[in-house]
Amino acid sequence: EIYRASTTAPVNIAVIKYWGKRDPKLNLPTNSSLSVTLSQSDLRTHTTASCSPSYPSEDALLLNGQAQDVSGARTQACFRELRALRQTLEASDSSLPKLASYPLRIVSENNFPTAAGLASSAAGFAALVRAIANLYELPSSPTDLSRIARQGSGSACRSLFGGYVGWEQGAATDGSDSVAFQVAPASYWPSMRALILVVSAAKKGVSSTTGMQTTVATSSLFPSRASETVPRRMAEMQKAIQEKDFETFGKVTMMDSNSFHATCLDTYPPIFYLNDVSRAAIKVVEVINEAAGRIVAAYTFDAGPNAVVYYLEENEKLVAGLFKAALGDKDGWKGARGDKVESNAD
Ligand code: DP6
Repeated sequence: EIYRASTTAPVNIAVIKYWGKRDPKLNLPTNSSLSVTLSQSDLRTHTTASCSPSYPSEDALLLNGQAQDVSGARTQACFRELRALRQTLEASDSSLPKLASYPLRIVSENNFPTAAGLASSAAGFAALVRAIANLYELPSSPTDLSRIARQGSGSACRSLFGGYVGWEQGAATDGSDSVAFQVAPASYWPSMRALILVVSAAKKGVSSTTGMQTTVATSSLFPSRASETVPRRMAEMQKAIQEKDFETFGKVTMMDSNSFHATCLDTYPPIFYLNDVSRAAIKVVEVINEAAGRIVAAYTFDAGPNAVVYYLEENEKLVAGLFKAALGDKDGWKGARGDKVESNAD
């Protein structure tokens, strides 16, 4: 007998970046962060989790048809936590099948480039955790699942919620209060759009895990970013979302992306995620905002050269049009697409 459950989880793109861990094992961050969850129509991971007493004894994970190593501490932590919750259920109801003791088989498909700084690990671990939670019929809330997904990849905790999502850094050493929370559903500010500029689909040079460890160890800009700049911006950003104030949302988004990439450059040896096409995208956003006489577009970059540009639907023609005109034929330009932010909270 085979037991099976499927789910999809969307990509999220941070407007206040997570960069730095106070506990690299539990992925406990040195600062809170905030992201927008993108629509599942284009950028998502689809995952099926199954288990069976007749499977080969090792757990297995297939990503886009390729077998992955599941022995890593992050995947193991997710499996272990979910199995423990299932065991609790089984202990309280002896009629339940003993799924926790069966080998797991996870099959995931991304519909976007993996590890190109497009937050693939976020959607991946969020989908993995929810698929297994569904398979085990756990009564866990999205908050509970965010605590588990965070151990797979920090940013994954934010993909358990739709819309505008915060991740509270928390203070507990066991990570119990380091969870995601919804700032507002997508329907609260439904005209938000994201343009994804796939500058390069190549795997990124320095992984975020390694990069942030080196930043914490060497950057002299980092301490003030984590303890002063980000806490102030978290408050500004939540207020901007509550007030649907795009000028502040956009300005804080761009400044926080710049601050994150500045601490990368300030890392020793330095980390460069932006390339010439990324810098051209920044220039286009500046031209658009100058033409509009106010901030109508905001760029942000994760640990890679691909730009995400946030704008409101009413400015679609201006923003998407100017991007096409400016970058349409450029080398390295792979295309753009508009995306609505995700609307279902779970
Ligand atoms: C730049 O969540 O990929 O995208 O916890 O080591 O898996 P790990 O890191 P990860 O880092 C994401 C960094 C970022 C910013 C963000 O998404 O907040």
